[in-house]
Amino acid sequence: MRIISNCSVSALADAAKTLIQGNLVAFPTETVYGLGTDASNKDAVTRLYAVKGRPSDHPLIVHISSDAQLDKWASEIPKYSIKLARNFWPGPMTLILPRTSLAQDFITGGQNNVGLRVPEHTVALALLKEFEKQGGLGIAAPSANRFGKVSPTTADAVCDELSDYLSKRDLILDGGACAVGVESTIIDCTKKKPTILRPGAVTKEAIEDTLGISMDFDSLTSVSNQVKASGVLTSHYAPRAKVVLSGVPNAGDGLIALASYATPAGVVRLAEPRTNEEYAKNLYEAFRLADHKGLQRVFVIPPAGSGIAIAINDRLAKSANTKSDSI
Ligand code: TXA
Ligand code: MG
Repeated sequence: MRIISNCSVSALADAAKTLIQGNLVAFPTETVYGLGTDASNKDAVTRLYAVKGRPSDHPLIVHISSDAQLDKWASEIPKYSIKLARNFWPGPMTLILPRTSLAQDFITGGQNNVGLRVPEHTVALALLKEFEKQGGLGIAAPSANRFGKVSPTTADAVCDELSDYLSKRDLILDGGACAVGVESTIIDCTKKKPTILRPGAVTKEAIEDTLGISMDFDSLTSVSNQVKASGVLTSHYAPRAKVVLSGVPNAGDGLIALASYATPAGVVRLAEPRTNEEYAKNLYEAFRLADHKGLQRVFVIPPAGSGIAIAINDRLAKSANTKSDSI
């Protein structure tokens, strides 16, 4: 596996070729790093599942370069989803739509719908354009971590997660630290009204404003029994250290909290973001730091409020849940 730090046009053309040849390329997006492969190549996708250690019935998001590619993968595209695509793509949003025959069972986990996203990161977009220029149709990319673990937001973190599993022909594109830091908002667009399956930086409020509707937040948990979406299982996004969301840290424990929260004596401060956006951006690196330092427990003071705080609290609740029903 090679790490490419200079993502020049020719390097991205090489990376696209690497994908076309059936290999894996980890790449930066504005949310987290993805582990990409050709979404039309069954053998390559099978290998991707093995590298991630993910059950094969968990569907993958197909990344495309623009909404002009939507109807290749989606057979029915409700008006509201076109509105969402126009407003929020490229960006941290995934739409679940009824599939075409291009989205085969090995991508959708046998479901009749497919997850589609146009990422905003310049490296991701340029890679997608090169890939399509070379005849590719879409890049399947889950977060570039082992199943159930913390999503990587830097190329170093991808290396830590996957270097033991990637082969000589695979690549990691280094595009710096991800700006958003938590995974995309997933919106189910297979019904009359959209529902949020996973909260992210495209917030419930922004979706409601765009569509002129109000949405129900109960849908976040009630769907978890119906769709096989690993991010909506109860335990996920977990570091080795135990994540604790209440109580007071002791000396030797880790702490993640907004900067306004003072660090008690002897406690290891892992992040002190000034805003909720910064909180989202730094959260997963702070979890990784806890594991690098060999800490047993990380105390996290969850952010209050709506917007991105909803996504942060969703991930915190799952990372603190040690039930082993998903991993
Ligand atoms: O921000 C993101 O979405 C990142 C970057 C790399 O784009 N990707 C990501 O992929 O988070 P992944 O596979 O780690 O999480 C995607 C979630 C999974 O829980 C998966 O089960 C769900 O989306 N998903 C994908 N396709 C789906 C579908 N057709 N129906 C329901 N859930 C789906
Ligand atoms: Mg993931």
